[in-house]
Formats: sequence, structure tokens, C-alpha cells
Amino acid sequence: MKIAVAGGTGFVGKVLTETLLQQGHELVLLTRNPEPYRQFSGRMLKAVAWDGRILNGWERQLESIDAVVNLAGEPIAARRWTAEQKRRIADSRIFATRALVLAIKGVQRKPGILVNASAVGYYGNVPEGEVQETAAAGNGFLAEVCAAWEREALEAEKAGVRVVLPRIGIVLEQGDGALAKMIPPFRFYAGGPLGSGKQWMPWIHREDLIRIILFCLSDRCVSGPVNAVAPKPVTMKEFCAGLGKALHRPNWAPVPGFVLKLILGDMAEMLLGGQQAVPEKLRMLGFKFQYPFLDDALSAIFTDLRASGRPNSA
Ligand SMILES: NC(=O)c1ccc[n+]([C@@H]2O[C@H](COP(=O)([O-])OP(=O)(O)OC[C@H]3O[C@@H](n4cnc5c(N)ncnc54)[C@H](OP(=O)(O)O)[C@@H]3O)[C@@H](O)[C@H]2O)c1
Repeated sequence: MKIAVAGGTGFVGKVLTETLLQQGHELVLLTRNPEPYRQFSGRMLKAVAWDGRILNGWERQLESIDAVVNLAGEPIAARRWTAEQKRRIADSRIFATRALVLAIKGVQRKPGILVNASAVGYYGNVPEGEVQETAAAGNGFLAEVCAAWEREALEAEKAGVRVVLPRIGIVLEQGDGALAKMIPPFRFYAGGPLGSGKQWMPWIHREDLIRIILFCLSDRCVSGPVNAVAPKPVTMKEFCAGLGKALHRPNWAPVPGFVLKLILGDMAEMLLGGQQAVPEKLRMLGFKFQYPFLDDALSAIFTDLRASGRPNSA
């Protein structure tokens, strides 16, 4: 297949693009900074500049594309959620998706599928009960961003394109993402749950997320929202216990919710709430997870970390 990937340079995207190239797919990488990738450009990979906002030529590259994957967006937890940062988080997702859909609508030969990232934040804070894909959108900043982001992507259906919306949980792997922020306090014997510890933390090993995206690309039965989470969600307390165990460190230093609100401001919403999202659609489609259990996922991640001798290994 010939596949355009936006946000293919990030924590998830870099592994997805590597995997797609290994599988023999031809890629168009839409990035705000194509220079580092130009040296690898050739018949199989073309790095193309875009700004994730307007059509200014890059859209011609979508003319003979079979599929589009959109993972672009300002990182959620990189900075304090000021009004300006919230606007960046929302606009980077909404405008990038709108631009891609406009580009798709404009080409003669439309791609068959758009896989557009979303997040379990769509459901807002749901303290009790399993959350399947049929659940309604929740309240709060992230829920509103996800709902608006998904609405933009679904516009592509009007052009006859199959749209898949992976509602992604917390992606686990070494190097970056949520774990990179959680490991340091544990390493220094100061790890523990945030808030009550009872909030749900839907998670997914990055390898399984990549496999889900590949599954969505290849299986024509998949469309609409897909909870991209492991089948065994855990609470914050269970997550921290698992992390402490994997790192051989105690899990004893809880951070009360009010302290978190003082430190993080509005971003505390993301950590003090959660939802017991389950991958119902993937279960019905027969998708097999490599890492359904948190302990196995963390053990695989930290075994690799120790083997690599990385500085943040336990
Ligand atoms: N990681 C998680 O735990 C998680 C959980 C739920 C949902 N998701 C969603 O899944 C997608 C991929 O996640 P990720 O962790 O791989 O993301 P990431 O590494 O933070 O970023 C992905 C890419 O987005 C582009 N980007 C960053 N800021 C941007 C901006 N202001 N405007 C336009 N593009 C921008 C960058 O590509 P260029 O610099 O090449 O343009 C970056 O490589 C994201 O949309 C994220 O919201 C992730």
C-alpha cells in the first residue's frame, strides 16, 4: 500500500512508520520538519513538509494514496495547561485533521481509509462501570477536544472513505510517553498513586497499539471508534503497584489530589479522572493482544530497558 502518515515522527508514529516500511509499504511522511528524514528519502519514503493547518502544495502527494494515518497533535502533557496551551492542543488536532480531510476530498482517487487518532479522554471521567465504544462523549477539556477532533475526521466519510478512530489509552513503552514521566519518582523511592488511586487508567503497550493500527488498515470490517486499550484496565493504585514491582521500588508516596491541582492546575483533570475503557469492538473482531496484562507489559518493557542499559533503567 501507499500510505500517508501525519505525526509519523512521534512516540507512536516513529515505530509505526518503521514497521510499515519493514512490511514493504510506500510512505509519505507529512511533517513540520522534513529535513532529518530527507536523507532516508527514496522510492519507499518521501518526507513532505506541511504545517498541519493549510493546503499549500503537500496535498498533491495524496493523489495516489491508499490510506492516511493521522497521529499529529501538540503533546498533551508537555506544558502547563494555560489558555494558550489548551488552544494549541485543540487547534493542532482539529486543524490538522480538517486539512487532511480537505486534501482527501480534493484528490481524484480517494484513499480507502483514514485512521485518525483519538483518545479515551473522549469519555471524560467515568468512575464506575465498563466503557465501550457506544458510550457517550463526556465532559471536560479533553473530552471536548476529542469529540471535535473525531467530528472533523468523520467528515471524510462523506467522500466515501472508511474512517477509523482509535480511542487510545495511555501508551506504554520506554523512552518517552507517560512512563518516562512516571519512572523518575519511583527510581528515587518516591513513587505512589496520584489522588485517590481509585481512578481508572486504561493503558496499551505501544506494540499492541501499532498492531491495532495495522489491523484497522487491513481489515475492511473496522470503522468508527475503536477503544485502543488493553483488555484488562487497572486503577491508578494497581498501576503504581505494578510499576513499583517492575522497577523493584516501593510504591508508598501518594500525592493527594489537591496538591496535584496546585502543581498542575487544570491538567490535574487528566490524572485524577479516568474511565474503565474496554476494547469491545476489537474483541468482537477477534483481535489478539500480545500484552493483555499490565504486569507482562511492564516486565517486557523493563527487561528491554535493563538489557539496553539506558540511563532510566531501574
Ligand atoms: N502517547 C499516548 O499515551 C497517547 C494517548 C492517547 C492518545 N494519543 C494520541 O495519539 C497520537 C500520537 O501520539 P504520540 O504520543 O505519538 O504523539 P507525539 O509524539 O506527542 O506527537 C506526534 C506528532 O505530532 C506532531 N505535532 C506535535 N505538535 C504539533 C503541533 N503543534 N501541530 C501539528 N503537529 C504537531 C509532531 O510531528 P512533526 O513534528 O513531524 O510535525 C509529532 O511527532 C496523538 O494525537 C495523541 O494525542 C497518544
